[in-house]
Amino acid sequence: MALDPIFLTQIYELALNTAKEAGALIKAKRNNGNLTNQYKGAHELVTDADIAADQLIINRIRAVFPQHRFLTEETYNDTSESHDLSTPIWIIDPIDGTVNYAHGHQMVAVSIAFACENEVQIGLVYNPFMDETFSAIRGQGAHLNGCKIKASQETNLRKALVATGFPYDKSGVAPIIQRVAKILMHCQDLRRLGSAALDICWVACGRLDVYFESLSPWDFAAARLVAHEAGAQCGHFGHKPTDIPACIYPNDLLIASPALFEKTRELLREASGY
Ligand code: IPD
Ligand code: CA
Ligand code: CA
Repeated sequence: MALDPIFLTQIYELALNTAKEAGALIKAKRNNGNLTNQYKGAHELVTDADIAADQLIINRIRAVFPQHRFLTEETYNDTSESHDLSTPIWIIDPIDGTVNYAHGHQMVAVSIAFACENEVQIGLVYNPFMDETFSAIRGQGAHLNGCKIKASQETNLRKALVATGFPYDKSGVAPIIQRVAKILMHCQDLRRLGSAALDICWVACGRLDVYFESLSPWDFAAARLVAHEAGAQCGHFGHKPTDIPACIYPNDLLIASPALFEKTRELLREASGY
């Protein structure tokens, strides 16, 4: 059943306004120069801006839709919640690229996805430092600052620029290094830009040709819809359990120009021993 277009427009505008407001907050907090850094677990950095932005986004959405559910990195982060996308749920990363943020880099984004009827319906990724808004409504294409975007049509992996990332917990890094080594030998070059949401949106607008990594749902739920709507192929190079929707299954993600997807998938599977 198609969703009511008036409802979807209302959701889109709320996501856009909220992402912009959260973006302004995190930009101002950094410019003021008094960020407080803490660690979640042994290695994962979280600043007071991550927590303030998470709260702001929840409050703004809850004021309009008190019955909707949330999956957010800093507050409601039980990922088993995201397995059920049948009724409205907002999937939020208040700052994607926290390490970049804390070091004064520009690859930082607010990521807001809205899902229901078992699919992500709206994706919004806003980079307040570059003033770039990537957006998509399911079935209506993808946009960067209001202009339609298309994924790269590159067909030759040797000419492809590929991005990936690394988890904070380095205990499982060995297989990741094997994948990086394999892909590096077959592509033009590799990037580690530090924001998965922006990496994926950069595949969507053709600045990158391929992206792969294992993540959490809030890192990529919005960006994946942007990439899908821009014509990139979105999937996984490893096994995906049947009971978790593909649009939020976070392991072994692969997002690529359509002509490069299969070749990259084969190489990643080989490197992973799958
Ligand atoms: C991280 C970034 C990074 C990716 C990590 C994520 P955070 O998100 O997206 O690019 O490599 O796996 O955890 O912690 O900055 O929200
Ligand atoms: Ca993230
Ligand atoms: Ca985050």
